[in-house]
Amino acid sequence: MCLSADSTKKVLITGGAGFIGGTLIRRLLMDTSVEIFNLDKMGYASDLHGINQVLRTLGESAEGRHKHLRVNLADSKSTSTAVSFADPDLVIHLAAESHVDRSISSPLQFVESNIIGTFNLLQALLKHWENLPTQRQREFLMLHISTDEVYGSLEHKGYFSENSSYDPRSPYSATKASSDHLVNSWFHTYGLPLIRTNCSNNYGPWQFPEKLIPMVILKAFSKENIPIYGDGKNIRDWLFVEDHVEALIQVIDKGEVGRNYCIGGLNEKTNLEIVESICGVLDLLRPKYAPHSEYISYVEDRPGHDRRYAINPERILREIGWKPKYGFKQGIEATVQWYLSNLDWCSLMKKKSNYKGERIGLR
Ligand code: NAD
Ligand code: DAU
Repeated sequence: MCLSADSTKKVLITGGAGFIGGTLIRRLLMDTSVEIFNLDKMGYASDLHGINQVLRTLGESAEGRHKHLRVNLADSKSTSTAVSFADPDLVIHLAAESHVDRSISSPLQFVESNIIGTFNLLQALLKHWENLPTQRQREFLMLHISTDEVYGSLEHKGYFSENSSYDPRSPYSATKASSDHLVNSWFHTYGLPLIRTNCSNNYGPWQFPEKLIPMVILKAFSKENIPIYGDGKNIRDWLFVEDHVEALIQVIDKGEVGRNYCIGGLNEKTNLEIVESICGVLDLLRPKYAPHSEYISYVEDRPGHDRRYAINPERILREIGWKPKYGFKQGIEATVQWYLSNLDWCSLMKKKSNYKGERIGLR
C-alpha cells in the first residue's frame, strides 16, 4: 500500500502519542494526505506536543487529518468501538509498554497492554476486516511493530535475523514475544493480512527521558552521575528513529503479507561508547563544563541484563531496498542538540509522570 501525497486511506496508529508513533504521525502528516486516527491511552510517556507543532505549521491543509482517540487497548469494548469509528484501511500497531526496567518493577502492566491489548486489537480488527467490502478487504493491512529483544541475548558472535528462535528474557520482551505469536496466529488461522517488523534500539528527539540516550544527555547536562549498568560493555544496535519510520513506510509499500522483517542500524555500540560519544558532543557544545565524562558512574547491573543485540538486516535491504540514512555521528549530534533546545519539554514530561530520573527496575 503506497502512502502517497494523494492517498485517501484511513490509517489507525496505536501508540501514536509515544516516541516512535509520534515520529511516524508527524512524517505522515507532512508527506502524505492520509487520515490518521491516533489511538493511545496517554500513559506516562505519551505526549502530543510534537504532533500539535506540525499541525500548527501545516495549518488548514492538515485540518481534520489527525484524530486522537484516548483508548486503552486493555479494554476490549472501547477498542472495538474505536476500530469501528476509525474504519481503517491500514493499522500500524505500536502501542506497548516499552521500558525494560519498568517491566521488572511492574510486569502486570506489560501483560495487560502488550498481550491483552494486542489480543483485543486483533479481535476488533478481525471483525472489522471480515465486514469490509471486497476491494477494501483485499487491500487491508495490519503492521505489527516489535523488537529485536524477543530473540534473547547474543554473545560476541552472530546476529538476529527473521529466522532466529524466540528466547525472550525480560517481562517486557516476553510480553512482546507473546504479542508477536498472537499476531502470527491471527494471520495463519484467520487470514488477517499482517506484516511484522522487529527493530533494534531507536534514538532521537521526543524520547521519554528514562531510556539510555536521553537519560545520559540530561544527567550529564545537569552534572549529575551518569548511571552505567554493570560493566558498560553490553551492546545495542542503534538506529535513528527517522530511519525506523522510513523502514515502516517502505515495508507497508513493498512488504509481503505474512512476512516479517528485521530492522537494524548496522551500528553496534557498547553502552560505554554511547555515553562517551554523548559526552564528547556536550564537550564541544559546552566546553566550559568539559569533560562531561567525569560524571560516569558504574552502578548495579539490570537484573537479567541482555548482553548483546545485533540485527542482520539483509532481508529488508535486499527485498525492500531500505537502508539507514543517518550515520551515528549525525544522529547523536542532532539528538543532543534537540534535547538541549527542549529542556522545558523534558521537565514537563518528568513532572507530569512524576519521574525524577531515579533508578527503576532493581529487584
Ligand atoms: P513509548 O513508550 O514511547 O510509546 C508507547 C505508546 O503506547 C505510549 O504513548 C503509550 O501510552 C501507548 N500505550 C501503551 N499501552 C497502551 C494501551 N494499553 N492502550 C493504548 N495505548 C497504549 O514506546 P516507543 O519507544 O515509541 O515504542 C513503540 C513500539 O515500538 C513498541 O511496541 C515497542 O515495543 C516497539 N519498539 C521500540 C523500540 C525502541 O527502541 N524504542 C525498538 C523496537 C521496537
Ligand atoms: O532493542 C530494542 C529495545 O530497545 C526496545 O524494544 C525497547 O522498547 C527499548 O526501550 C530498548 O530497550 P533497552 O533495554 O535496550 O533500552 P534502554 O535505553 O533501557 O537501555 C539501553 C542499554 O543501556 C541497556 O543495555 C541498559 C543500559 N542502561 C540503561 C539505562 C536507562 C544503562 O546502562 N543505564 C541506564 O540508566
